Amino acid sequence: MLVEKYSVCGGNRLYGEINISGAKNAAVAIIPATVLVDGPCRIENVPKISDVTALLTIMREFGANIKLINDSTIEIDCSKIRNTKAPYELIRKIRASYYLIGALLGRYRCAEVGMPGGCDFGVRPIDQHVKGFESLGAKVDIKNGFIHATAENGLKGTNVYLDIVSVGATINIMLASVLASGQTIIENAAKEPHIVDVANFLNSMGADVKGAGTDVIKVRGVPTLKGGSYAIIPDQIEAGTFMAAVTATGGDILIKNIIPKHLECITAKLSEMGAIIEEFDDSIRVRRDGALNRVNIKTLPYPGFPTDMQPQLVAALILANGTSIVTESVWENRYRYIDELKRMGAKIQVDGKVAIIEGVQKLTGAPVRAWDLRAGAAMIIAGLTAHGYTEIEDVLHIERGYENIVEKFASLGADIKRFECPDEEEIAEPLKA
Ligand code: UD1
Repeated sequence: MLVEKYSVCGGNRLYGEINISGAKNAAVAIIPATVLVDGPCRIENVPKISDVTALLTIMREFGANIKLINDSTIEIDCSKIRNTKAPYELIRKIRASYYLIGALLGRYRCAEVGMPGGCDFGVRPIDQHVKGFESLGAKVDIKNGFIHATAENGLKGTNVYLDIVSVGATINIMLASVLASGQTIIENAAKEPHIVDVANFLNSMGADVKGAGTDVIKVRGVPTLKGGSYAIIPDQIEAGTFMAAVTATGGDILIKNIIPKHLECITAKLSEMGAIIEEFDDSIRVRRDGALNRVNIKTLPYPGFPTDMQPQLVAALILANGTSIVTESVWENRYRYIDELKRMGAKIQVDGKVAIIEGVQKLTGAPVRAWDLRAGAAMIIAGLTAHGYTEIEDVLHIERGYENIVEKFASLGADIKRFECPDEEEIAEPLKA
C-alpha cells in the first residue's frame, strides 16, 4: 500500500498572495444542518477537504440528493431522506458527525449515530450535547458505540444552561431546537464565528435564531425550513496558519478572502511577536523582517486565542528570542505533537497544560508525524524554518481540514511537495514475523 507524505525543505521566506477557503468548522455543521430543510440548499464557499467529503458520503447514505455545482458550490436536498441511522465506519472518522444527531432529532424526532471521532486531544465528552437534547424532551441512550436519541412526542423549547462553553453543544442544541415548539434559550453559549455562521444559515432558510455570537442564544421554533442559498464564511484558522507561517519564516504575504474581525486575537499575538500586519476590508497583509519576539499565550473560547492555533504558534515561537509560555486551557491533552518538534531541535518543556518554549538559534529537518490536523500544520511551519529536509507522515490528518495546503504554500515560495511512498510498517511486517 502507498502512503502520502510531505517533504519540506526549510529556509525560504514566504512572498505572494493566497486565497482562504470556506471555514471547515462552519461547513461541517452547515452540511448536516441541511437535514432540517425541506428543499434544496445551495451552499457556496465549501472547502475541498476530506472531512467535507466524508460528511457528504454519509449524507448520501441517508438519501440526501447532492449535486456538485462547481468547485466550491454544492446543492443538498434532504427532502427524501429515508434513513436516520448513520454508519459507524464513516462516522468514526470525523468529530462533527455529532451534528447529525441534533439535525436528525430536530427533523425526524429520532437519530442513531456512532460516537464521533476526529482529532485525539484526550477525553472529548458530549455530556453537554446530551443535556441539551434531554432538556428539549428527547430520550438519549449511549450503547454499543452508538448514540440513540428519540423524541416521540416532539421537542419542546426550554432553557439550557451549558456548564462548559462548548462550540459543539451550542450548535447541536441550536440544530435540535429550530423546529421544536416554543422558545429555547441557550445560556453560556459559545461565541465562535462559525456559530454565527450556522445561525445565519438557519435564519436564511426561515429559522428564528437570535443572539448568536453572544452568550445567550434564543431560538423560536418554526414549523418548517425552506431551501435557499448560503455562502460559508472564510476559515479563520486557515488564515491564522498562513499568518503564523510567514511570521515564523519572514517575508510578506497578502491573505485574501478573510474577515479581519475574526482574526483579531491572532493578529494581536503575531504583532507582539514582531509581525507587521495591515488589515483591509477582506484581506490582510502580514510581513516580518525584524526580530522574532517571545510571547505568552493562553487558549480560551472565542474571542480569546483559539486552541486550534496553539500548535502553529508554538511552532512559530521555537526560533523566537527568549522564553515563551503557552497555556492550553480548552483541551486536556493537546501537546502530544511537541515530541516531534523536539526531534528537530526545539527546546520545549511540557508540564500539564503549560508548555515552556525556550527559543533556539536553529532547527534541523527530521522525519516527523502529523498527530492531528493542527499539529500537522505546526510540522509544516517548523519544517519551513528548519535547515534541511523534513518529511511529514500521516498527512491525511492535515488534509481533513486544509484545502490544497501544499499548493498554497508552494505558491508563496515554500519548498514543499506531496509524494507517495510504500508503507514502511507494511514492509517491516515480514521482518517482524
Ligand atoms: C470544536 C472544534 C475544534 C476546537 C474546539 C474548541 C469543530 C468541528 N471542532 O470542537 O476544532 O478545538 O471546538 O474551540 O467545530 N466539553 C465537555 N462536554 C461537552 C462538550 C465539550 O466537557 O459536552 C469540553 C471539551 O472536553 C473541551 C471543551 O468543552 O474541553 C470545549 O469543547 P468544544 O467547544 O465542545 O469542542 P468541539 O465542539 O468538540
